[in-house]
Amino acid sequence: MSLWGGRFSEPSDDDLRRLNDSIDFDQALYAEDIKGSIVYSRALAQAGVITAAEADEIIAGLQQVMQEFDGGSFELAEGDEDIHTAVERRLIEIVGEVGGKLHTGRSRNDQVATDFRLWTMRAADRLQEELRLLQAALVSVAESHIETVMPGYTHLQPAQPITAAHWLMSFFWMLERDLERLRAAKKRMAACPLGSGALAGTPFAIDRAQIARDLGFCEPSENSLDAVSDRDFVADMLYVISICAVHLSRLAEDILIYSNAAFGFITLDDRYSTGSSLMPQKRNADPMELTRGKTGRLIGNLTGFLATLKGLPSGYNKDLQEDKEALFDSVATMHQLLPVVTATVSSLLINAEAMEAALTEDLLATDLADYLVGKGAPFRQSHHIVGQVVRLAAEREVPLSQLPMSALSVISEHFGEDVAQVFDYASSVARRNSYGGTAPGAVRGQIAQAKARMTE
Ligand code: ARG
Repeated sequence: MSLWGGRFSEPSDDDLRRLNDSIDFDQALYAEDIKGSIVYSRALAQAGVITAAEADEIIAGLQQVMQEFDGGSFELAEGDEDIHTAVERRLIEIVGEVGGKLHTGRSRNDQVATDFRLWTMRAADRLQEELRLLQAALVSVAESHIETVMPGYTHLQPAQPITAAHWLMSFFWMLERDLERLRAAKKRMAACPLGSGALAGTPFAIDRAQIARDLGFCEPSENSLDAVSDRDFVADMLYVISICAVHLSRLAEDILIYSNAAFGFITLDDRYSTGSSLMPQKRNADPMELTRGKTGRLIGNLTGFLATLKGLPSGYNKDLQEDKEALFDSVATMHQLLPVVTATVSSLLINAEAMEAALTEDLLATDLADYLVGKGAPFRQSHHIVGQVVRLAAEREVPLSQLPMSALSVISEHFGEDVAQVFDYASSVARRNSYGGTAPGAVRGQIAQAKARMTE
Protein backbone atom coordinates (compact mmCIF):
# COMPACT_ATOMS: atom_id res chain seq x y z
CA MET A 1 0.00 0.00 0.00
CA SER A 2 1.36 3.38 -0.93
CA LEU A 3 0.83 6.44 1.25
CA TRP A 4 -1.22 8.18 -1.40
CA GLY A 5 -3.49 5.30 -2.40
CA GLY A 6 -6.80 6.88 -1.29
CA ARG A 7 -7.60 8.49 -4.58
CA PHE A 8 -6.97 5.41 -6.70
CA SER A 9 -9.11 2.33 -7.28
CA GLU A 10 -6.33 0.17 -8.70
CA PRO A 11 -2.76 -0.42 -7.55
CA SER A 12 0.12 0.92 -9.67
CA ASP A 13 1.49 -1.09 -12.52
CA ASP A 14 4.73 -2.91 -11.68
CA ASP A 15 6.69 -1.33 -14.50
CA LEU A 16 5.54 2.10 -13.44
CA ARG A 17 6.68 1.39 -9.92
CA ARG A 18 10.10 0.32 -11.06
CA LEU A 19 10.43 3.60 -12.93
CA ASN A 20 8.90 5.75 -10.23
CA ASP A 21 10.47 4.35 -7.08
CA SER A 22 13.63 5.92 -5.76
CA ILE A 23 14.06 3.80 -2.63
CA ASP A 24 16.93 1.84 -4.17
CA PHE A 25 19.14 4.89 -4.10
CA ASP A 26 17.53 7.46 -1.79
CA GLN A 27 17.89 5.17 1.25
CA ALA A 28 21.22 6.94 1.52
CA LEU A 29 19.23 9.88 2.90
CA TYR A 30 17.76 7.98 5.84
CA ALA A 31 19.70 9.80 8.57
CA GLU A 32 18.83 13.24 7.20
CA ASP A 33 15.21 12.22 6.67
CA ILE A 34 14.77 10.94 10.21
CA LYS A 35 16.60 13.88 11.75
CA GLY A 36 14.34 16.22 9.77
CA SER A 37 11.27 14.39 11.07
CA ILE A 38 12.44 14.54 14.67
CA VAL A 39 12.93 18.30 14.45
CA TYR A 40 9.63 18.65 12.61
CA SER A 41 7.65 16.76 15.23
CA ARG A 42 9.03 19.08 17.91
CA ALA A 43 7.99 22.05 15.81
CA LEU A 44 4.49 20.61 15.44
CA ALA A 45 4.23 20.22 19.21
CA GLN A 46 5.49 23.72 19.83
CA ALA A 47 2.88 25.04 17.40
CA GLY A 48 0.18 23.14 19.28
CA VAL A 49 -0.64 20.89 16.31
CA ILE A 50 0.23 17.77 18.28
CA THR A 51 0.73 17.37 22.04
CA ALA A 52 4.14 17.12 23.66
CA ALA A 53 3.35 13.51 24.58
CA GLU A 54 2.52 12.69 20.98
CA ALA A 55 5.75 14.29 19.84
CA ASP A 56 7.67 12.17 22.36
CA GLU A 57 6.03 8.99 21.08
CA ILE A 58 6.79 9.91 17.49
CA ILE A 59 10.38 10.82 18.29
CA ALA A 60 10.96 7.56 20.17
CA GLY A 61 9.59 5.70 17.16
CA LEU A 62 11.80 7.64 14.78
CA GLN A 63 14.82 6.87 16.93
CA GLN A 64 14.01 3.20 16.65
CA VAL A 65 13.75 3.50 12.86
CA MET A 66 17.14 5.22 12.88
CA GLN A 67 18.62 2.36 14.89
CA GLU A 68 17.18 -0.17 12.46
CA PHE A 69 18.81 1.63 9.54
CA ASP A 70 22.09 2.13 11.41
CA GLY A 71 22.22 -1.55 12.37
CA GLY A 72 21.22 -2.77 8.91
CA SER A 73 18.04 -4.46 10.16
CA PHE A 74 15.55 -2.12 8.48
CA GLU A 75 13.34 -4.15 6.18
CA LEU A 76 11.81 -2.62 3.10
CA ALA A 77 8.17 -3.34 2.46
CA GLU A 78 5.97 -3.41 -0.61
CA GLY A 79 4.95 0.15 -1.35
CA ASP A 80 8.10 1.77 0.10
CA GLU A 81 8.38 4.10 -2.83
CA ASP A 82 11.12 6.30 -1.44
CA ILE A 83 12.93 6.91 1.83
CA HIS A 84 10.23 9.29 3.07
CA THR A 85 7.40 6.79 2.65
CA ALA A 86 9.52 3.96 4.03
CA VAL A 87 10.36 5.82 7.23
CA GLU A 88 6.79 6.95 7.76
CA ARG A 89 5.38 3.48 7.09
CA ARG A 90 7.73 1.93 9.62
CA LEU A 91 7.08 4.69 12.17
CA ILE A 92 3.36 3.98 12.01
CA GLU A 93 4.03 0.26 12.44
CA ILE A 94 6.02 1.03 15.58
CA VAL A 95 3.99 3.78 17.26
CA GLY A 96 0.58 3.21 15.72
CA GLU A 97 -1.87 5.82 14.49
CA VAL A 98 -0.18 8.75 16.19
CA GLY A 99 2.65 8.34 13.65
CA GLY A 100 0.18 9.49 11.03
CA LYS A 101 0.27 12.97 12.56
CA LEU A 102 3.89 13.57 11.64
CA HIS A 103 3.22 14.51 8.05
CA THR A 104 0.80 17.33 9.01
CA GLY A 105 1.48 20.39 6.87
CA ARG A 106 4.50 18.72 5.34
CA SER A 107 5.03 17.37 1.85
CA ARG A 108 7.65 15.08 0.45
CA ASN A 109 8.52 18.10 -1.66
CA ASP A 110 9.84 20.21 1.21
CA GLN A 111 11.04 17.06 2.93
CA VAL A 112 13.25 15.81 0.10
CA ALA A 113 14.61 19.29 -0.60
CA THR A 114 15.58 19.54 3.08
CA ASP A 115 17.06 16.05 3.29
CA PHE A 116 19.12 16.45 0.18
CA ARG A 117 20.46 19.86 1.17
CA LEU A 118 21.55 18.38 4.50
CA TRP A 119 23.19 15.43 2.78
CA THR A 120 24.98 17.71 0.33
CA MET A 121 26.24 19.99 3.09
CA ARG A 122 27.73 16.98 4.81
CA ALA A 123 29.25 15.76 1.55
CA ALA A 124 30.83 19.20 1.10
CA ASP A 125 32.46 18.88 4.52
CA ARG A 126 33.89 15.48 3.71
CA LEU A 127 35.25 16.63 0.37
CA GLN A 128 36.82 19.59 2.09
CA GLU A 129 38.75 17.28 4.40
CA GLU A 130 39.95 15.10 1.54
CA LEU A 131 41.06 18.10 -0.49
CA ARG A 132 43.04 19.38 2.48
CA LEU A 133 44.89 16.06 2.66
CA LEU A 134 45.84 16.33 -1.00
CA GLN A 135 47.00 19.89 -0.48
CA ALA A 136 49.10 18.80 2.47
CA ALA A 137 50.70 16.07 0.34
CA LEU A 138 51.55 18.60 -2.39
CA VAL A 139 53.10 20.99 0.12
CA SER A 140 55.12 18.27 1.74
CA VAL A 141 56.64 17.01 -1.52
CA ALA A 142 57.17 20.60 -2.70
CA GLU A 143 59.10 21.43 0.46
CA SER A 144 61.74 18.85 -0.39
CA HIS A 145 62.19 20.23 -3.91
CA ILE A 146 62.43 23.98 -3.54
CA GLU A 147 65.87 23.98 -5.19
CA THR A 148 65.18 21.22 -7.72
CA VAL A 149 65.20 22.73 -11.19
CA MET A 150 63.20 21.27 -14.08
CA PRO A 151 62.08 22.44 -17.50
CA GLY A 152 58.83 24.38 -17.45
CA TYR A 153 56.60 24.00 -20.49
CA THR A 154 54.18 26.03 -22.53
CA HIS A 155 52.38 24.28 -25.39
CA LEU A 156 54.16 21.23 -23.96
CA GLN A 157 57.35 22.64 -25.50
CA PRO A 158 60.35 23.51 -23.29
CA ALA A 159 59.92 27.11 -22.15
CA GLN A 160 61.87 28.26 -19.08
CA PRO A 161 63.43 26.56 -16.08
CA ILE A 162 61.21 26.33 -13.01
CA THR A 163 61.54 24.63 -9.66
CA ALA A 164 59.76 21.34 -9.02
CA ALA A 165 58.21 22.86 -5.92
CA HIS A 166 56.70 25.60 -8.05
CA TRP A 167 55.14 23.03 -10.36
CA LEU A 168 53.65 21.06 -7.45
CA MET A 169 52.43 24.17 -5.66
CA SER A 170 50.53 25.34 -8.73
CA PHE A 171 48.05 22.55 -7.99
CA PHE A 172 47.78 23.60 -4.36
CA TRP A 173 46.27 26.91 -5.46
CA MET A 174 43.87 25.31 -7.89
CA LEU A 175 42.59 23.15 -5.05
CA GLU A 176 42.47 26.17 -2.76
CA ARG A 177 40.01 27.82 -5.15
CA ASP A 178 38.03 24.58 -5.31
CA LEU A 179 37.77 24.70 -1.53
CA GLU A 180 36.56 28.30 -1.70
CA ARG A 181 33.96 27.27 -4.25
CA LEU A 182 32.90 24.43 -1.99
CA ARG A 183 32.47 26.78 0.96
CA ALA A 184 30.51 29.28 -1.12
CA ALA A 185 28.25 26.53 -2.47
CA LYS A 186 27.68 25.22 1.05
CA LYS A 187 26.74 28.67 2.28
CA ARG A 188 24.13 29.03 -0.46
CA MET A 189 22.64 25.62 0.25
CA ALA A 190 22.24 26.35 3.95
CA ALA A 191 18.67 27.66 3.63
CA CYS A 192 16.09 25.24 5.02
CA PRO A 193 13.05 24.39 2.85
CA LEU A 194 11.15 22.52 5.60
CA GLY A 195 7.83 24.24 6.25
CA SER A 196 7.34 25.11 2.59
CA GLY A 197 4.72 22.37 2.26
CA ALA A 198 4.05 21.09 -1.23
CA LEU A 199 4.61 24.54 -2.76
CA ALA A 200 2.58 27.21 -0.98
CA GLY A 201 3.77 27.15 2.62
CA THR A 202 1.89 25.79 5.64
CA PRO A 203 -1.11 27.03 7.61
CA PHE A 204 0.34 25.60 10.84
CA ALA A 205 2.22 27.98 13.11
CA ILE A 206 5.54 26.13 13.06
CA ASP A 207 8.68 28.13 13.78
CA ARG A 208 10.66 27.77 10.57
CA ALA A 209 13.65 29.69 11.89
CA GLN A 210 13.88 27.29 14.83
CA ILE A 211 13.62 24.27 12.51
CA ALA A 212 16.41 25.69 10.35
CA ARG A 213 18.66 26.21 13.37
CA ASP A 214 17.92 22.80 14.86
CA LEU A 215 18.87 21.09 11.61
CA GLY A 216 22.11 23.04 11.21
CA PHE A 217 20.98 25.39 8.45
CA CYS A 218 21.73 29.11 8.58
CA GLU A 219 18.20 30.32 7.85
CA PRO A 220 14.80 29.26 6.53
CA SER A 221 14.32 29.59 2.76
CA GLU A 222 12.57 32.79 1.63
CA ASN A 223 10.11 31.46 -0.94
CA SER A 224 8.26 28.17 -0.59
CA LEU A 225 7.75 27.70 -4.33
CA ASP A 226 11.43 28.24 -5.04
CA ALA A 227 12.46 26.10 -2.07
CA VAL A 228 10.68 22.94 -3.27
CA SER A 229 11.41 23.27 -6.94
CA ASP A 230 14.96 24.45 -7.44
CA ARG A 231 18.01 22.24 -7.29
CA ASP A 232 20.64 24.80 -8.07
CA PHE A 233 22.48 23.62 -4.95
CA VAL A 234 22.89 20.24 -6.66
CA ALA A 235 24.13 21.86 -9.85
CA ASP A 236 26.52 24.02 -7.77
CA MET A 237 27.96 20.94 -6.15
CA LEU A 238 28.22 19.07 -9.45
CA TYR A 239 30.08 22.04 -10.90
CA VAL A 240 32.44 22.41 -7.95
CA ILE A 241 33.20 18.71 -8.23
CA SER A 242 33.68 18.95 -12.00
CA ILE A 243 36.15 21.82 -11.92
CA CYS A 244 38.00 20.17 -9.05
CA ALA A 245 38.16 16.96 -11.09
CA VAL A 246 39.46 18.96 -14.05
CA HIS A 247 42.31 20.07 -11.78
CA LEU A 248 42.96 16.51 -10.65
CA SER A 249 42.86 15.41 -14.26
CA ARG A 250 45.48 17.95 -15.26
CA LEU A 251 47.69 16.88 -12.38
CA ALA A 252 47.19 13.28 -13.50
CA GLU A 253 48.16 14.22 -17.03
CA ASP A 254 51.38 15.88 -15.82
CA ILE A 255 52.17 12.82 -13.74
CA LEU A 256 51.57 10.58 -16.75
CA ILE A 257 53.84 12.67 -18.96
CA TYR A 258 56.59 13.18 -16.40
CA SER A 259 56.65 9.50 -15.47
CA ASN A 260 56.93 8.49 -19.11
CA ALA A 261 60.34 6.98 -19.86
CA ALA A 262 61.13 9.77 -22.34
CA PHE A 263 60.94 12.25 -19.45
CA GLY A 264 61.72 10.11 -16.42
CA PHE A 265 61.17 13.08 -14.09
CA ILE A 266 59.14 11.09 -11.60
CA THR A 267 58.62 7.47 -10.66
CA LEU A 268 55.35 6.24 -9.24
CA ASP A 269 55.40 4.05 -6.21
CA ASP A 270 54.70 0.37 -6.94
CA ARG A 271 51.48 0.51 -4.99
CA TYR A 272 50.09 3.11 -7.37
CA SER A 273 51.39 1.59 -10.59
CA THR A 274 49.89 -1.19 -12.66
CA GLY A 275 51.34 -3.80 -14.99
CA SER A 276 50.40 -5.39 -18.28
CA SER A 277 49.03 -8.90 -18.68
CA LEU A 278 51.13 -9.34 -21.83
CA MET A 279 54.21 -7.09 -21.66
CA PRO A 280 56.26 -8.01 -18.60
CA GLN A 281 58.27 -4.79 -18.52
CA LYS A 282 55.27 -2.47 -18.31
CA ARG A 283 54.75 -0.02 -15.55
CA ASN A 284 51.57 1.92 -16.13
CA ALA A 285 49.82 4.64 -14.20
CA ASP A 286 46.25 3.41 -14.53
CA PRO A 287 45.05 5.33 -11.46
CA MET A 288 46.09 8.58 -13.12
CA GLU A 289 44.37 7.56 -16.34
CA LEU A 290 41.23 6.77 -14.37
CA THR A 291 41.44 10.15 -12.70
CA ARG A 292 41.56 11.75 -16.14
CA GLY A 293 38.89 9.39 -17.48
CA LYS A 294 36.41 9.74 -14.65
CA THR A 295 36.54 13.50 -14.98
CA GLY A 296 34.56 13.04 -18.19
CA ARG A 297 31.87 11.21 -16.27
CA LEU A 298 31.74 13.91 -13.60
CA ILE A 299 31.31 16.62 -16.23
CA GLY A 300 28.60 14.41 -17.74
CA ASN A 301 26.72 14.35 -14.44
CA LEU A 302 26.78 18.16 -14.40
CA THR A 303 25.68 18.73 -17.97
CA GLY A 304 23.10 15.94 -17.78
CA PHE A 305 21.53 17.41 -14.68
CA LEU A 306 21.51 20.97 -16.06
CA ALA A 307 19.60 19.57 -19.02
CA THR A 308 17.13 17.97 -16.62
CA LEU A 309 16.49 21.32 -14.95
CA LYS A 310 16.25 23.63 -17.90
CA GLY A 311 12.67 23.09 -19.07
CA LEU A 312 10.90 22.53 -15.77
CA PRO A 313 7.75 24.50 -15.05
CA SER A 314 7.35 26.09 -11.61
CA GLY A 315 6.81 23.86 -8.62
CA TYR A 316 8.08 20.38 -7.85
CA ASN A 317 8.31 18.00 -10.81
CA LYS A 318 9.34 14.37 -10.61
CA ASP A 319 12.20 15.10 -12.99
CA LEU A 320 13.92 16.47 -9.90
CA GLN A 321 14.29 12.95 -8.53
CA GLU A 322 17.16 12.65 -11.04
CA ASP A 323 19.20 14.92 -8.79
CA LYS A 324 20.21 12.12 -6.45
CA GLU A 325 21.88 9.53 -8.62
CA ALA A 326 23.87 12.25 -10.37
CA LEU A 327 25.22 13.74 -7.17
CA PHE A 328 25.64 10.43 -5.34
CA ASP A 329 27.72 9.21 -8.25
CA SER A 330 29.83 12.37 -8.41
CA VAL A 331 30.50 12.43 -4.68
CA ALA A 332 31.29 8.70 -4.57
CA THR A 333 33.63 9.08 -7.53
CA MET A 334 35.50 11.88 -5.77
CA HIS A 335 35.81 9.72 -2.66
CA GLN A 336 37.38 7.04 -4.85
CA LEU A 337 39.74 9.40 -6.61
CA LEU A 338 40.98 11.75 -3.92
CA PRO A 339 42.67 9.23 -1.59
CA VAL A 340 44.44 7.62 -4.55
CA VAL A 341 45.61 10.93 -5.99
CA THR A 342 46.81 11.98 -2.53
CA ALA A 343 48.71 8.75 -2.00
CA THR A 344 50.18 8.94 -5.50
CA VAL A 345 51.50 12.42 -4.80
CA SER A 346 52.83 11.55 -1.33
CA SER A 347 54.69 8.53 -2.66
CA LEU A 348 56.02 10.20 -5.83
CA LEU A 349 59.72 9.78 -6.37
CA ILE A 350 61.12 12.97 -7.87
CA ASN A 351 64.19 12.23 -9.99
CA ALA A 352 66.06 15.50 -9.62
CA GLU A 353 68.94 14.33 -11.85
CA ALA A 354 66.61 13.46 -14.72
CA MET A 355 64.95 16.85 -14.39
CA GLU A 356 68.34 18.54 -14.45
CA ALA A 357 69.52 16.44 -17.39
CA ALA A 358 66.48 17.60 -19.37
CA LEU A 359 67.48 21.26 -19.02
CA THR A 360 68.74 22.62 -22.32
CA GLU A 361 70.23 26.03 -22.94
CA ASP A 362 67.39 27.12 -25.21
CA LEU A 363 65.37 27.35 -21.95
CA LEU A 364 67.66 30.31 -21.16
CA ALA A 365 66.87 32.23 -24.34
CA THR A 366 64.59 34.59 -22.42
CA ASP A 367 67.36 35.14 -19.88
CA LEU A 368 69.66 36.02 -22.75
CA ALA A 369 67.14 38.56 -24.04
CA ASP A 370 66.81 39.97 -20.51
CA TYR A 371 70.63 40.27 -20.41
CA LEU A 372 70.52 42.44 -23.53
CA VAL A 373 67.75 44.53 -21.96
CA GLY A 374 70.19 45.08 -19.08
CA LYS A 375 72.65 46.42 -21.63
CA GLY A 376 70.11 48.97 -22.84
CA ALA A 377 68.53 47.19 -25.82
CA PRO A 378 64.73 47.51 -26.10
CA PHE A 379 63.14 44.11 -25.41
CA ARG A 380 61.65 43.76 -28.89
CA GLN A 381 65.10 44.21 -30.37
CA SER A 382 66.76 41.82 -27.92
CA HIS A 383 64.08 39.22 -28.64
CA HIS A 384 65.01 39.44 -32.33
CA ILE A 385 68.75 39.32 -31.63
CA VAL A 386 68.42 36.23 -29.46
CA GLY A 387 66.30 34.63 -32.17
CA GLN A 388 69.26 35.03 -34.50
CA VAL A 389 71.63 33.63 -31.88
CA VAL A 390 69.38 30.60 -31.41
CA ARG A 391 69.28 30.04 -35.17
CA LEU A 392 73.06 30.26 -35.47
CA ALA A 393 73.57 27.82 -32.59
CA ALA A 394 71.14 25.41 -34.24
CA GLU A 395 72.97 25.70 -37.56
CA ARG A 396 76.31 25.03 -35.90
CA GLU A 397 74.74 22.33 -33.75
CA VAL A 398 76.18 23.75 -30.53
CA PRO A 399 74.56 24.93 -27.29
CA LEU A 400 74.04 28.71 -26.98
CA SER A 401 76.90 29.06 -24.51
CA GLN A 402 79.37 27.54 -26.99
CA LEU A 403 79.04 30.27 -29.59
CA PRO A 404 82.28 32.32 -29.60
CA MET A 405 82.18 35.98 -28.69
CA SER A 406 83.28 36.76 -32.23
CA ALA A 407 80.07 35.23 -33.58
CA LEU A 408 77.91 36.96 -30.96
CA SER A 409 79.48 40.35 -31.62
CA VAL A 410 78.54 40.11 -35.28
CA ILE A 411 74.90 39.75 -34.26
CA SER A 412 74.90 42.50 -31.61
CA GLU A 413 77.32 44.98 -30.14
CA HIS A 414 75.65 44.55 -26.73
CA PHE A 415 77.23 41.16 -26.02
CA GLY A 416 80.13 41.21 -23.57
CA GLU A 417 82.22 38.59 -21.78
CA ASP A 418 79.79 38.66 -18.82
CA VAL A 419 77.22 36.87 -21.02
CA ALA A 420 78.66 33.60 -19.65
CA GLN A 421 76.80 34.26 -16.38
CA VAL A 422 73.47 33.87 -18.17
CA PHE A 423 74.01 30.16 -18.75
CA ASP A 424 73.17 28.92 -15.32
CA TYR A 425 69.81 27.30 -14.58
CA ALA A 426 69.85 27.92 -10.86
CA SER A 427 70.52 31.63 -11.40
CA SER A 428 67.75 31.72 -13.98
CA VAL A 429 65.15 30.53 -11.48
CA ALA A 430 66.68 32.59 -8.67
CA ARG A 431 66.21 35.74 -10.77
CA ARG A 432 62.46 35.10 -10.99
CA ASN A 433 61.99 36.27 -7.48
CA SER A 434 58.80 38.23 -8.10
CA TYR A 435 55.86 37.58 -5.78
CA GLY A 436 54.44 34.24 -6.95
CA GLY A 437 57.55 33.54 -9.07
CA THR A 438 59.50 30.31 -9.30
CA ALA A 439 62.64 31.43 -7.38
CA PRO A 440 63.32 29.32 -4.28
CA GLY A 441 62.88 32.40 -2.10
CA ALA A 442 59.52 33.23 -3.63
CA VAL A 443 58.40 29.61 -3.42
CA ARG A 444 59.30 29.53 0.28
CA GLY A 445 56.99 32.52 0.74
CA GLN A 446 54.32 30.74 -1.29
CA ILE A 447 54.56 27.65 0.87
CA ALA A 448 54.29 29.75 4.02
CA GLN A 449 51.09 31.32 2.63
CA ALA A 450 49.76 27.88 1.74
CA LYS A 451 50.39 26.57 5.24
CA ALA A 452 48.62 29.56 6.72
CA ARG A 453 45.58 28.84 4.51
CA MET A 454 45.53 25.23 5.64
CA THR A 455 45.31 26.15 9.29
CA GLU A 456 42.60 28.78 8.79
N1 ARG B 1 11.39 10.62 -4.30
C1 ARG B 1 11.01 11.96 -4.56
C2 ARG B 1 12.23 12.76 -5.05
O1 ARG B 1 13.28 12.28 -4.87
C3 ARG B 1 10.46 12.59 -3.35
C4 ARG B 1 9.50 13.71 -3.62
C5 ARG B 1 8.27 13.16 -4.20
N2 ARG B 1 7.27 14.16 -4.29
C6 ARG B 1 6.19 13.96 -5.05
N3 ARG B 1 5.32 14.91 -5.06
N4 ARG B 1 6.01 12.89 -5.72
O2 ARG B 1 12.14 13.82 -5.60
